[in-house]
Amino acid sequence: MSNLEPEAHGKTLWHGRFEGGPAAELMAFTESLSFDRRLWPDDIAGSRAHVRGLAHAGLITDAERDAVLAALDQVAHEMQSGAFAFAESDEDIHTAVERRVTELAGPAGAKLHTGRSRNDQSATDVRLWAKRELVVVAERIVALQQVLLNRAIEAKGVYLPGYTHMQRAQPVLLAHHLLAHGWALTRDLQRIKGTLERVDVSPLGAGALAGSSLPIDPQYTATQLGFAAVFDNSLDAVGSRDHIAEVLFDLTLVAINLSRIGEEWVLWTSEEFGFAKLDDGYATGSSMLPQKKNPDIAELARGKAGRIIGDLTGFLATMKGLPLSYNRDYQEDKEPLFDAMDQVRLGLGAIAGMIATATFVPERMQAAADSETGSSTDLAEWLVVQGVPFREAHAIVGALVREALAGTASLRELVANHPRLGAEPAALVGPGVSVTRRTSPGGAGPVPVAVQLQHFTETLAAWQTWLGAHL
Ligand code: ARG
Repeated sequence: MSNLEPEAHGKTLWHGRFEGGPAAELMAFTESLSFDRRLWPDDIAGSRAHVRGLAHAGLITDAERDAVLAALDQVAHEMQSGAFAFAESDEDIHTAVERRVTELAGPAGAKLHTGRSRNDQSATDVRLWAKRELVVVAERIVALQQVLLNRAIEAKGVYLPGYTHMQRAQPVLLAHHLLAHGWALTRDLQRIKGTLERVDVSPLGAGALAGSSLPIDPQYTATQLGFAAVFDNSLDAVGSRDHIAEVLFDLTLVAINLSRIGEEWVLWTSEEFGFAKLDDGYATGSSMLPQKKNPDIAELARGKAGRIIGDLTGFLATMKGLPLSYNRDYQEDKEPLFDAMDQVRLGLGAIAGMIATATFVPERMQAAADSETGSSTDLAEWLVVQGVPFREAHAIVGALVREALAGTASLRELVANHPRLGAEPAALVGPGVSVTRRTSPGGAGPVPVAVQLQHFTETLAAWQTWLGAHL
């Protein structure tokens, strides 16, 4: 009944066509087990669905299906406990699982790969994996947003300089600054949600590239696996990786957002700025300089973004010249994908912890924001309200700032004594006044920031609900 050669164990899956075995150099260079073994839960899920599909199509008996399912359970158990013994001939996770299933289930196991190729199998595994991991990344993003929101709420009226060109421009509430990063992360969530739609398509049933003569039903296995959709074109199903490029792009933008936060915190925690102090648990010391407390998380958020950009661009280069359909080059989708996912996930957790535990130094922030010239725009806008054209107002105030910087008198005195200004606008030059005058919608002062905090809270709650439905 069985055509299985007893010596098949230890041979490649394709050994029938070959007289000799694979060279050691070939195995060393082409194996993917060293990095794709983490796909085992997805490989087993895919095989469960596939073997059910085979029985559903009448290609194997229910008893054979059950024997394979039991063997898959056993493989899962061995993988989970670490007892799974990989063989030298296991080229990738797919061959390892199939080999072991065949050992355990005998002839029924040898039917597992009916109507299936590693091309649709590995594409299925990675899509299942990416679906799950993207939601975990989204969860971490939401957790970081929650930290930003909490810190924004407790920051109340604390303000700091807002910068353009890295020069002090206008004071902004600390809450406003923190939420600016929060909104950027919201767009990361939106991108991930959109990408998930395109990842959530089952390629299982495409076979090697062209489908099968056997009555397999891709929709059946897609439903078994919880995919929202099924492929329309078998060549496209095994021959496309734009969804992986998209995942990498989304992760790269998250990494870049973390990197930009990191850069700010490197500055904020420097002695020169002194805007924030890191908790001991989220800072490192120097092996030589006893006084040092270093912002390594912030720096590595910056540094690792470079490597993650490399994951994206490297994979785009891998894809660019590939004809349809599957090419072995596609095996190179996994390492950059895994690396970017792991690093972004770790980075989100580390940055969230760093910000949650840091101490802000409002005195330093506010002292930096209270330079007289920070209210220059308020003075010009005061003149505008008196009917002075803005360009003229800008010139009047600019001239006073030039005088003040030359040391003639303080800006406040110059304003108080200016024929077109006086005591009322001079009061705008006082500490803490300017930020209260950012009243326009979406602006940096207390009135619009209160509205923004409310909107951000609602937006975050909606994402939490979304997560609840996807986790
Ligand atoms: N490890 C391979 C990958 O990740 C599996 C597919 C191999 N297919 C083949 N025809 N050699 O892409």
